[in-house]
Amino acid sequence: METLERSHYCGELTSAHTGQSVVLMGWVHRHRNLGGLIFIDLRDREGITQVVFDPHRNPDPVEKAKNVRAEFVIALKGTVHLRPADMVNKDMITGEVEVLADLIQILNEADVPPFVVDGAQDASDVLRLTYRYLDLRKPSVLESFKTRHRVTTIIRKYMNRNGFLDVETPMLTRSTPEGARDYIVPSRMQPGRFYALPQSPQLFKQLLMIAGFDKYYQIVKCFRDEDLRADRQPEFTQLDVEMSFMDEDHIMTLMEGLFQRLWSDILNVEIEIPFHRMSYHDAMDRFGTDRPDVRFGMELVDLTEILRGSEYRLFSEAVERGDVVKAVNVRGCGAYSRKQIDELVDTAKELGAKGLGWAKIKGGAEWQSPMAKHLAAHERTAITQTLDARENDLALFMSGPYAAVSDVLGRLRIRLANNLGFVDNSRYEFLWVTAFPLMEFDEDQNRYVAVHHPFTAPMETDIDKLADRPGEVRSRAYDIVLNGNEIGGGSIRNHRMNVQSRVFEALSINEKEAREKFGFLLKALTLGAPPHGGIALGLDRLVMILCGKSSIRDVIAFPKTQSATCPLTGAPASIPDEQLSELGLCLRSEGE
Ligand code: AMO
Repeated sequence: METLERSHYCGELTSAHTGQSVVLMGWVHRHRNLGGLIFIDLRDREGITQVVFDPHRNPDPVEKAKNVRAEFVIALKGTVHLRPADMVNKDMITGEVEVLADLIQILNEADVPPFVVDGAQDASDVLRLTYRYLDLRKPSVLESFKTRHRVTTIIRKYMNRNGFLDVETPMLTRSTPEGARDYIVPSRMQPGRFYALPQSPQLFKQLLMIAGFDKYYQIVKCFRDEDLRADRQPEFTQLDVEMSFMDEDHIMTLMEGLFQRLWSDILNVEIEIPFHRMSYHDAMDRFGTDRPDVRFGMELVDLTEILRGSEYRLFSEAVERGDVVKAVNVRGCGAYSRKQIDELVDTAKELGAKGLGWAKIKGGAEWQSPMAKHLAAHERTAITQTLDARENDLALFMSGPYAAVSDVLGRLRIRLANNLGFVDNSRYEFLWVTAFPLMEFDEDQNRYVAVHHPFTAPMETDIDKLADRPGEVRSRAYDIVLNGNEIGGGSIRNHRMNVQSRVFEALSINEKEAREKFGFLLKALTLGAPPHGGIALGLDRLVMILCGKSSIRDVIAFPKTQSATCPLTGAPASIPDEQLSELGLCLRSEGE
């Protein structure tokens, strides 16, 4: 058999190649027999080319070509021809040409695949993941990985040009507290002891600053055992960054430059810098979330003061209890039917509300609402004005504790805006969220826990509150939010041992525990730690947005299911008893 050497990718042939002899290799995408003429759409990484086997031109290969089926791997030799004018396919890059084949070699046969690659009907998620390599053959799926490759290339170039060193950090390590459960790896050499896979390289990158590396980055896998969602995987990738002798502005400017480069190169979109900044407090007040989507209005409006002392006891009693009354104004929905409103109330309840008040606004004090008769005219007018509500708007009200009301109305706002088409998907609204609380009280654990991680520095002005009002201390942390997605977060760190110790104390991490878990970091802080800080971007989320996808699974080659399994390999799997005993482990049977 003649040994063929590939001359071109299928996807690169255009009219410029007319008359050239070419050798192509790839997969049979589609196969048609039209009265003796055989057409094969041949697919490789770069695209699809139509190949024609014509018995009048060369009968030899036609017989062989008759026998191929979808997903056979073939090589062929032929000549590039212009297609007849009425056969030109404008939707394909290679649509002007076809290859007239002189030779075909079947490199490998293929069984009938469990689903048609790029077929009209989508296979189930589990089937797609079980045969992920077939799913990845889809040109549209593959496209995201080409984008991902370009993104990491641009990132490396940008970070290198800015003087950052790419340094690897260990995967077998100790727990780093990022707020999730650890993935644990048992040690064979030290039976009964365990490594943790890193939730992030947080402590190592700080140690690199103490080592004097000055500017570090890494595109790195992180592992977190937490409940999964469309934007969460148990293993995911960060662009992890740390730098010394800097402050918040340095890191923000650096990242803004990177986003600008990425958006310009990948999407041909020029984004404006500097990005807006919003305090955590404002974000919660106005949007009910610390990752607001600011592409549309419909902000949460506080009506607590207007309703203090109102005749309407439902609200005034709530206010007296210390609860709040908040509302959102839904533009143009004042003609909603009773059924539509009932559905809205149900949605709010599904999101956790006890109830949802509503008013169809006609203007000023003129409302159509079950609440109208309970509220004084001046109260209705004040509410209409505060909401900036106009004729034919629909106001939605909720009372209750601040956190619960903000959360439910915030999520209702997003749900409504998406359903009503208020969100302009062609816009990219970046936002820095700053001035987070350093810690918050966790009722379950009955103690304060870090909002970011325990190495985040408090604001200088708030350090004195650490001992007696820890909940009021603001941190030097910042999140980068894009269209309602948290795509990164970071902070300035505690580089002085005494401040770090005071933070641990406020977090009820006693000296013994601190020494046991983070003793190596605390020691390092006493041996010449420069001021430092950094950030980590969620690379999967970033690529997801750049590819216009709605789940990070679409941009991860071999993702896990919602229940953290891999249908392809069958992981996680049980292991033989010998392996368990080598590790000094013994499984408890159920109920023990
Ligand atoms: P943080 O925990 O905020 O910060 O993580 C940084 C970013 O990583 C992404 N991310 C995830 N992406 C996919 N799946 C997950 N399970 C997942 N968890 C987080 C998010 C998030 O914003 N060490 C600190 C950074 C620092 O302080 O420098 C850290 O890891 O986009």
